[in-house]
Amino acid sequence: MKQNHGREKELVEAAFAAREKAYAPYSGFSVGAALLTEGGEIYTGCNIENAAFTPGCCAERAAFFRAVGEGERNFAAIAVAGGKTGEAPASACPPCGVCRQVMQEFCDPATFLILLPESPEKWKTYTLAELLPLGFGGHGKI
Ligand code: THU
Repeated sequence: MKQNHGREKELVEAAFAAREKAYAPYSGFSVGAALLTEGGEIYTGCNIENAAFTPGCCAERAAFFRAVGEGERNFAAIAVAGGKTGEAPASACPPCGVCRQVMQEFCDPATFLILLPESPEKWKTYTLAELLPLGFGGHGKI
């Protein structure tokens, strides 16, 4: 993390709190994400599903779109927590491929960190490059 502000634990806890806001009546799988900007702001998101299914949005993209819509362009890290609604997550919730591609658009794959907690106390950290090798484009690059 270029500027992690020593805030990993806070970020993980924010992802768990955001998960409480998930709207997931169709999958019964609730996800929360907390995105840390290089400037030190945290933007959260949750998954938001839809009766027509395809309009649904993952927690990670909800967090990115909220932040980008507020003018943010530089990101340090994201924490993601997901699992069966109403239960503590049973395992880590790695971001889907579409969300990894959205990260690729705005983040430096070598330094952007993805925190995947099994619980609010224990998480593993990956770079975007590790989770999306040979990612396509990014930063207006095509
Ligand atoms: N989901 C996320 O929000 N993020 C992930 O990383 C994986 C999946 C959501 C999409 C859908 O609402 C539910 O979890 C089940 O796939």
